[in-house]
Amino acid sequence: MIDLRSDTVTKPTAKMRQAAFEAEVGDDVYVEDPSVIQLEEKAAEMLGKEAALFVTSGTQGNQIAALTHCKPGEEVLLEASAHLFLYEGASMSAFAGVQPRTIKGNRGAMDPAEVAAAIRPDDIHFPETGMICLENTHNKAGGAIVPLENMQQIYETAREHTIPVHLDGARLFNAVAASGVSVKHYASQADTVQFCLSKGLGAPVGSIITGSSAFIRKARKWRKRLGGGLRQAGVIAAPGYIALTEMTQRLVEDHENARLLAEQAAAMPGLSIENQVDTNIILINVAGRGETAGEYLEKLKSNGILAVPFGPQTIRFVTHFDVSRENIQTVIDRMHRL
Ligand SMILES: Cc1ncc(COP(=O)(O)O)c(C=O)c1O
Repeated sequence: MIDLRSDTVTKPTAKMRQAAFEAEVGDDVYVEDPSVIQLEEKAAEMLGKEAALFVTSGTQGNQIAALTHCKPGEEVLLEASAHLFLYEGASMSAFAGVQPRTIKGNRGAMDPAEVAAAIRPDDIHFPETGMICLENTHNKAGGAIVPLENMQQIYETAREHTIPVHLDGARLFNAVAASGVSVKHYASQADTVQFCLSKGLGAPVGSIITGSSAFIRKARKWRKRLGGGLRQAGVIAAPGYIALTEMTQRLVEDHENARLLAEQAAAMPGLSIENQVDTNIILINVAGRGETAGEYLEKLKSNGILAVPFGPQTIRFVTHFDVSRENIQTVIDRMHRL
């Protein structure tokens, strides 16, 4: 099977497995695991933040951000198709007790003027705006890169109102690889940043959340409350360190593969490409074939290709480390036959 469902399906490399095997470990709840500490320090340094925390998943990192930044009864501003809004089981509301307020964006980018207008004035009828959340790259918008200037404008407004900005950067390194903007620049436009080690970077488990030392101290407690205080976590942090230090540069290959697949699919009868392919996600619409996403996905599957539905007639393909150029060529040939 050529698995293009998500970059989460990547398997750890031989070097990552070896690093897990040899990892020096300690009890991370006592902040005594050297491999976790090394990963957290490296992540904080790379993003230009004071501190970092290794968390179990992107979802947990985002939830810790909401729990640490906000109080129950507050409101969180975020893009209408943000992962935090669509795909995290309303956990922000369930755990942090906050109300999401969505703003429809353009390719994942909210209009800074609309964000400014949505910030609540001081009035006993209203919730306070407790956090603004950005997402880069934006998953539902097809891996779209949210421009740095857009983030800058929103962050400036947020600071005027002393509202914290959290960046869901599950795929931030894809934005870095594709745009040439440094990860520090992106990270400088948010108070806290979550990014995933386990997606395109290939680590088996985990995400990082970065921010100020004071924020991370509180976040560490929330992680513990959520059951995310892991003990000898060095065995998963060591592969994460390799993901962070050795796997970011190669993401451009995934982007080239995505572009090739998109260009070829666009020329196939009945298929159209819904997104501008900035990074590793391609949204292919099958309406021209008179089929549903499910029907076309079944045909792909019987031809050894996996992808996921992303709308009634939309299919998402994600390129990643475990899909080679040759695999992409095979996918193109089989789709041509279909
Ligand atoms: C933008 C974005 N944020 C957060 C997550 C959640 O990450 P995890 O699956 O590690 O919980 C995902 C997962 O695909 C994502 O795409």
